[in-house]
Amino acid sequence: MEQQNTEDVLILAIESSCDETAASVVKNGREVLSNIIYSQIALHERFGGVVPEIASRKHIEKINQVIRQALEEAEVSLQDITAIAVTYGPGLVGALLVGVAEAKAISFAAGIPRVGVHHISGHISANYIEYPDLEPPFVCLVASGGHSHLVLVKDYGDYQILGRTRDDAAGEAFDKVARAIGLGYPGGPKIDRLAKEGNPDAIPFPRAKIAENEYDFSFSGLKSAVLNYLNGCRMKGEEICQADVAASFQKAVIDVLVEHSLHASKAFSCDKFAIAGGVASNSSLREAFRKECEKNHIRFYHPSPVYCTDNAAMIGAAGYYEYIRGVRHGWDLNAVPGLKL
Ligand code: KG4
Ligand code: ZN
Repeated sequence: MEQQNTEDVLILAIESSCDETAASVVKNGREVLSNIIYSQIALHERFGGVVPEIASRKHIEKINQVIRQALEEAEVSLQDITAIAVTYGPGLVGALLVGVAEAKAISFAAGIPRVGVHHISGHISANYIEYPDLEPPFVCLVASGGHSHLVLVKDYGDYQILGRTRDDAAGEAFDKVARAIGLGYPGGPKIDRLAKEGNPDAIPFPRAKIAENEYDFSFSGLKSAVLNYLNGCRMKGEEICQADVAASFQKAVIDVLVEHSLHASKAFSCDKFAIAGGVASNSSLREAFRKECEKNHIRFYHPSPVYCTDNAAMIGAAGYYEYIRGVRHGWDLNAVPGLKL
């Protein structure tokens, strides 16, 4: 067993809000001692998306094993753990409940405090893991399967939402377009790969602007434009170049995300900008942000892909800052599927 300093804060973190059963041990908010992820993707693939009931059942089956592995890999025991952090929303209610119930059970048995963590706060905090120098304030774009938020991170755990999606999340648009061109679930990584072979300027798909809030997003019009384009081609008997559709669609999403994000960074005089969430692992998106940030003298932070998609290390990082702020949850900690940031 690794010798731990008594001053160290060791967080055992649990994440089960969607289709990943994950546990991690994080030291002092930034050092990941273990990061175990059991992905259910293969299980949901044939249904073309996440089936909530199947997700909950699999979480129950896997959670103990994943936690045990996280402790083993970190070479610590429950006695070394300072607090348990768990995602309690937003997400699928049945899936969240598995993590929350597990966290309460361990907390009771081991006599350690519980800290409930917001899933999006977790995604944002993923940036702290690989950048020890990163401190608020900064602007963060969170783009995942369920969320597209432009957030001003004022302090640890203190957020101001500047913009959000009016309809589909960015990742949802990737998944739906991927299904329409026959790529399967989850669409993001598949479009990412295929787009490399296509021409991003081949098809002029729309970039939506929202009059009431310049930082808000809308992706459903873009999704419909792709579906209309595909139908039009089929009706005219024209061949569809999947790679061109993927590349042109992806470019339309990235253009809007980059424009809004840079605009917000400048408006709030932030010289630090971060990305988070599953879509943040998109290679063209990372490249586009890298270029634009460099041009505008903004430092660009981007977690490794494993910390972009759902994981528990990010919950451990966010949980640490909640813990040192004095946040503790009672036994009434519950899953909140529509939890607000
Ligand atoms: O953050 P995440 O793992 O789960 C949620 O909290 O939703 O994000 C999953 C989403 C899916 O929609 C997936 O298609 C998308 O992230 N995604 C990507 C890529 N990898 C995952 N989208 C674009 N490019 C990628 N490389
Ligand atoms: Zn997520």
